[in-house]
Amino acid sequence: MLRQSKLLAASALLAAFAFAAPLAAQTTVPGYTPGEERPEDFPEGQGRDETFYACIACHNFKLIAAQGLTRNAWDDTVTLMTQRHNMPAIEGAEREVILTYLSTAFPPKQQRGWKNPFN
Ligand code: HEC
Repeated sequence: MLRQSKLLAASALLAAFAFAAPLAAQTTVPGYTPGEERPEDFPEGQGRDETFYACIACHNFKLIAAQGLTRNAWDDTVTLMTQRHNMPAIEGAEREVILTYLSTAFPPKQQRGWKNPFN
C-alpha cells in the first residue's frame, strides 16, 4: 500500500515536470513584471497592439522601443527571439504586421534624429 502511494506521488511529480518544462524553457528577463505598460504608451501605428502583445511575454516593450532598426534587422531580431529565447515562431501575415509596425515606429536612429545643419 505504502509502496503504491509512493509510486503515485512519483508519477504525479513527473507529470508536473513534463508540464512545467516547456514554460521554463522560455527566457524571461530577470525582474520583469508583465502588466506595467500599455500599448498606448508607444507610437501609434497599424499593428501596434499585435506587436505589443506578441513581445511582452518576457520583457518590457521599452527595451524594444529603445532600438532603431531597419526592417531586415527587425526581422533578424524576431528570429533571434525564437532561436535564442524560445519565443513561439511568428510567421506569415502576423509577422508582416509586426515587422511593418516595428520598422515604421522604430526606424534606424539617424533617420529621425540629428540632421547636419551645414548640408
Ligand atoms: C520568449 C521570451 C521573449 C519574447 C516573447 C520576446 N523576447 Fe526579446 N528578448 C528576450 C530576452 C531574454 C532578451 C534579453 C537577452 C538578450 O539581450 O538577448 C531579449 C532582448 C530583446 C531585445 C534587446 C536586444 C539587445 O541587443 O539589447 C530586443 C530588441 C528584443 N528582445 C525584441 C523583441 C521583439 C521585437 C519581440 C516580439 C516580436 C520580443 N523581443 C519577444 C526574450 C524574449
